[in-house]
Amino acid sequence: MTTSFDQLIDRSQTQSVRWSSHPKEVIPLWVADMDFACPPCIQDALHQRIEHGIYGYTKASEHLREAIIAYLQRRYQWQILPEWLIFLPSVVTGLYLIPSLFLETYEQALIPSPAYHHFQMGLEQSTRSFVKYHFTEQSGRWAIDFDELETLVTSQTKLLMLCNPHNPGGTVFHKDELEKLGSFAVRNNLMICSDEIHADLILDTDKSHLPIASLTREIGERTITLMSLNKAFNFPGIGLAWAVVPNQAMRQKIQQPLHGLIPSPNLLAYEATLAAISAGQTWHTELLNYLRNNRDYVMQRINRLPGLKTLHLEATYLAWIDASGIDDPYQRMLDAGVALSPGAQFGAPQFLRLNFGTPMSRLKEALDRIELTFK
Ligand SMILES: Cc1ncc(COP(=O)(O)O)c(C=O)c1O
Repeated sequence: MTTSFDQLIDRSQTQSVRWSSHPKEVIPLWVADMDFACPPCIQDALHQRIEHGIYGYTKASEHLREAIIAYLQRRYQWQILPEWLIFLPSVVTGLYLIPSLFLETYEQALIPSPAYHHFQMGLEQSTRSFVKYHFTEQSGRWAIDFDELETLVTSQTKLLMLCNPHNPGGTVFHKDELEKLGSFAVRNNLMICSDEIHADLILDTDKSHLPIASLTREIGERTITLMSLNKAFNFPGIGLAWAVVPNQAMRQKIQQPLHGLIPSPNLLAYEATLAAISAGQTWHTELLNYLRNNRDYVMQRINRLPGLKTLHLEATYLAWIDASGIDDPYQRMLDAGVALSPGAQFGAPQFLRLNFGTPMSRLKEALDRIELTFK
């Protein structure tokens, strides 16, 4: 049975970052957006807003706030208050804002490794120092090395950065792992910044997302959670994120630069987010089914090639491929006609990241090319 996710949509004339950075014969499976059209409910909401014709300064409606609160309750059994929500134009904005706002120049953060590159870049830009804690292979999945983590804290350490679920590697943290992290933060008096943008991209049906801030009041009070629907509903070019900040003093600190330095989200992003929450559920369930099938296909084909290996991916549409057995794997893939993300971008040069948020026929063509080169 074909679905709307099988449709090959030409993105070449859209200034897509993903599709405009390589010669046209290369299949680009790198930057994290998907080649699927947004759900019709989002397209309809955007059309309706565009047709109004006036695009003045716009703020989030009470209706949107209530919808987000109900969404967090429904999906994660997380009860938050309306005043805890702060809107941002993107999650990355938060990753750059938080270190400079919350760390003194001599204070330090713990950041995951490998990690989405803006974790490190946000700290570098703020000129705050950081120490990396690592993921290791444990029971067939990428998990935090807690023994190492305990050794990394110093009197300067003030912030624990977390990516939940993790990118790259696709880890969905177990409740006991999050509890361990939370009590580690409490014991060492660390603030937590948890990037949960991939929360709605959990592929394993026996797993679910748990916001670390929802564990206990004590953990919540020291946590800023960054969330957005633009990954799971595929509108990152419109872009809206929100921070959940239960602690009032922390909220005030974030709100200061928002009056001038950081713009409000685009007015269309409010519409897209509300439509996703109100009417996007069926599309989203179908998306996860499609991505799960793509994930299984990628794992099966990659794992039979010599020198390449990928662990079971619990979440995201980004396969994390260990290519340690191969010299310059990024260039070899490019020569084969497939552009992946180089692992060096995430701090692991022997790895590659493959975005399988694309129709199966294109994914198959890409894997055929890879197989021809690597088998
Ligand atoms: C962990 C993580 N955080 C943030 C982002 C980007 O978020 P935004 O587009 O809202 O800045 C990505 C995109 O790939 C990501 O993987």
